[in-house]
Amino acid sequence: MVNDKLGRNLQDLRISITDKCNFRCRYCMPREVFDDNWEFLNRNELLTYEEILLVIDSFMKLGLKKVRLTGGEPLIRKNMHELIRIIKNKYPKLEIALTTNGSLLSRYSEKLKHAGLDRITISLDSLEPKLFEKMNDTKIPINQVLEGIQSAIDLNFINIKINCVIKKGLNENQIIPLIEYFKNKNVILRFIEFMDVGNSNQWNLDQVFTKDEIIKKINSKFNFSPLGRLKKSDVAEQWVEKNTNQKIEVISSISQPFCSNCTRARLSSDGKLYTCLFAFKGFDIKKILREEGDITTKIKEIWEHRDDKFSELRNEFIKIEKKVEMSYIGG
Ligand code: GTP
Ligand code: 5AD
Ligand code: SF4
Ligand code: SF4
Repeated sequence: MVNDKLGRNLQDLRISITDKCNFRCRYCMPREVFDDNWEFLNRNELLTYEEILLVIDSFMKLGLKKVRLTGGEPLIRKNMHELIRIIKNKYPKLEIALTTNGSLLSRYSEKLKHAGLDRITISLDSLEPKLFEKMNDTKIPINQVLEGIQSAIDLNFINIKINCVIKKGLNENQIIPLIEYFKNKNVILRFIEFMDVGNSNQWNLDQVFTKDEIIKKINSKFNFSPLGRLKKSDVAEQWVEKNTNQKIEVISSISQPFCSNCTRARLSSDGKLYTCLFAFKGFDIKKILREEGDITTKIKEIWEHRDDKFSELRNEFIKIEKKVEMSYIGG
């Protein structure tokens, strides 16, 4: 176990395996920024699956409990179920989770299950096809995502979660329909406050529909009561409906930050290690891995020097440097 300067131990690793995505969500990869001129990473810059396993080896020595594979859109990368297979073969007890936009999920869900994936989280911001298209700026039909979600349910994945980013004035009218749609579907719906990640999404506090506003809206119709965080380090707080037992979650990074229990490290697909979602700079783990071999000591040192708490200090930051983009670091 290794602790940072604020006493937080290293437990989770979020691994972005590609910075590319087939969606252009306005809050993440607005098309006018992520256009034909945007320089995505080259293939030879990416960590190979074998190298990712070596990074995990080092994290395991330091107490790792969970990895989450993200992107961009992780299912775009070729044979990504092979990555899951090699991780699970070596570390059967390590929890492996995936965050995906769901568009390719029905095609791959069976392979992912057989490879040993434990959990899936799928993004869905609207049930209304036109609004879905407007928010994600894609021609990929919503049904493809709904089929992806259904395939995960049919394969009995445990603890499936649906991520819905709420932007004020845009999709808060989807909160109630989404709760109704997923009422008997054995998934946990979670509402996320729109965050100021990266430099491209034109974030503005006026567009944040806060946790309190979300709960107020929900309980104008239902009867959800708070269960709090199931685990101290969880990003989300949970609520349960008294009559139906349906569970929902809210992630309140803006109105009620949760940095004091943040146990998450992040690895970009080109092998840089970040200690905060809002970081300006990462540490080049790939270079050390390729030149020297062992990276465990370096990772330990990086974590022990960590004192990030961006969300709690948000207002004190002066914008001098560029933050990393969400699609590069994987949320
Ligand atoms: P589980 O708790 O395992 O279900 O997953 P998760 O919530 O950690 O992962 P997911 O990829 O579903 O992320 C949900 C939302 O929380 C996304 O908007 C993330 O960007 C955000 N998020 C995840 N980790 C952090 C964090 O450390 N800080 C902040 N501010 N947001 C985070
Ligand atoms: N604010 C909040 N959540 C975001 N996500 C992407 N960009 C933002 C943002 N600006 C969400 C995605 C996905 C998860 C990894 O992060 O919708 O579900
Ligand atoms: Fe792609 Fe996810 Fe970003 Fe949307 S939020 S553009 S699906 S990486
Ligand atoms: Fe952790 Fe940074 Fe998010 Fe705070 S803002 S919870 S330190 S990743």
